[in-house]
Amino acid sequence: MLIFDHVTKRFGANVAIDDASLTIRPGVITAVIGPNGAGKSTLVNMAAGSFRATSGRILLDGVELQGLPKYKIARAGLSRTYQNIRLFDGLSVLQNLEVALVPRSLPTLIAQAFWLGPGAGAEVRDTCMAVLQRLGIAHLAERQAGSLAYGQQKIVELARAVAARPRAILLDEPAAGLNHGETDELKAHIQTLRGPELAIVLIEHDMRLIMSVSDDIYVMNRGAVLAHGNPEAIRDNPQVQEAYLGQPGAMGNIEAAARGRRNRVRLRAGEGLAWGQS
Ligand SMILES: Nc1ncnc2c1ncn2[C@@H]1O[C@H](COP(=O)(O)OP(=O)(O)OP(=O)(O)O)[C@@H](O)[C@H]1O
Ligand SMILES: [Mg+2]
Repeated sequence: MLIFDHVTKRFGANVAIDDASLTIRPGVITAVIGPNGAGKSTLVNMAAGSFRATSGRILLDGVELQGLPKYKIARAGLSRTYQNIRLFDGLSVLQNLEVALVPRSLPTLIAQAFWLGPGAGAEVRDTCMAVLQRLGIAHLAERQAGSLAYGQQKIVELARAVAARPRAILLDEPAAGLNHGETDELKAHIQTLRGPELAIVLIEHDMRLIMSVSDDIYVMNRGAVLAHGNPEAIRDNPQVQEAYLGQPGAMGNIEAAARGRRNRVRLRAGEGLAWGQS
């Protein structure tokens, strides 16, 4: 269980997260939605150790994550994907996954060097290959990550997050920049992640995806939790509609907004690829 307990985050005078409390249960898919700037990525960044909260606690299975270095947070079982893809472009797909496993398997690597022979390294490799297989991209294992199409890179990011066998996985706009077919594929993958031990957080603007896969939805607005409930309750909530579009009764237009955004993100992603990292 991942808990944000009365968390506040200030950047100077800007209150990015304002006393937000969220409970992310294992076994279900919890969506976090909200307009641009609502604070969704900031929640992920705090949980994963990129930012420290100004106040409040973030607990994963009872362990306080605040103040732990990123690798210890990863070791505690939290894994995330980025809104803007962050793969090692020059490494192969398989190596991108292996690198993600290094913190956890460091003792294994040392043991391998001194006592166990090459078998232990093969174990990491097998784990990574199994994940690639599960996500239908085993055939891309030896390809350079930077040479892949944008949609494929998003799946590699997901694979990397899954490979670490997390207890909580936070997906920051995994569908951004994907077309309808790719989004459907992603949706199937997210559904297969569902398991009794894993808490899944899905941050998205694509309401079609959100409404079809989520069990539980938190709506953020201006850093605060505006609403929390199941998809039906959220869809019918006039406050939610107002937060998105400034007027009640306009929820259907969110889809159009998401489509426009998707096109913009794809454009940005193209630039990102040309430069390497985005
Ligand atoms: N590193 C930072 N320094 C200063 N302000 C920041 C930083 N990161 C985020 N913010 C601010 O915090 C607020 C929340 O931003 P955040 O990126 O979490 O929103 P979001 O909900 O993820 O939006 P989007 O849908 O556009 O991704 C915004 O006002 C943003 O400008
Ligand atoms: Mg964001």
